[in-house]
Amino acid sequence: MRVLMIGDIVGRPGRKALLDNLQALRKELKLDFVIANGENAAAGHGITKEIAKQLFATGVDVFTMGNHVWNKKEIIPYIEKEKRIIRPANYPPGTPGVGYSIFETQLGYKLAVINISGRIFMQELDCPFRKIDEILLEIQDKVNIIFVDFHAEATSEKVAMGWYLDGRVTAICGTHTHVQTADERILPEGSAYITDIGMTGPRDSVIGVCTNAVIEKFISQMPRRFEVADGDYQLNAVVIDLNPENGVAKNIQRVFNLE
Ligand code: FE2
Repeated sequence: MRVLMIGDIVGRPGRKALLDNLQALRKELKLDFVIANGENAAAGHGITKEIAKQLFATGVDVFTMGNHVWNKKEIIPYIEKEKRIIRPANYPPGTPGVGYSIFETQLGYKLAVINISGRIFMQELDCPFRKIDEILLEIQDKVNIIFVDFHAEATSEKVAMGWYLDGRVTAICGTHTHVQTADERILPEGSAYITDIGMTGPRDSVIGVCTNAVIEKFISQMPRRFEVADGDYQLNAVVIDLNPENGVAKNIQRVFNLE
């Protein structure tokens, strides 16, 4: 079984990357399931119903989110109904939406997708380690193919989560930094791991944003309006092969495609 996890889709260039490539990739790579981080899909901040629908049509099966999940207010009623959009599980109880869900592939295999947020240089949410223990306990009798999008800033927190979950999930893949790391591997107990999948968005940018505004802000220390950069895109993802009978990962490979 083969699953594609796509790194943070940023604005129009990121959406174009999927519109241009995803259907062909699904066929070429014989993908069984596609998970994409969509928290920056709408002008860099959040996602809307229209954009989610457009990207579902390109071949995304499930969106994971992150700290920008609430940036577009209209997401709240939508996320309460649309279970294919998963927000970080460690928000306080009562938060709209769900932090994980179980889906079924076309071949009938059940697969769980969990989104969880880090706490280092991020919002102070509940402990991601304890929260994921709770979730794994809830789903242990239902599913053994489990994908985790750990939306976090600090590499140390992400690496630690990789070791914490090794052998308990199929894959732990980092998102949020928008820079793809070259540390993909199968951990000793059989979980696929990468610190960050990277960004699917404008290539000539500072993690998706127009370069000049970011540089000016760093130098002047004054507020600047940040806009998603234009121009050619990059598509960052990982392809994960696994044994569908036991959920153990066999291989993880980075994708770094350019327009
Ligand atoms: Fe983020």
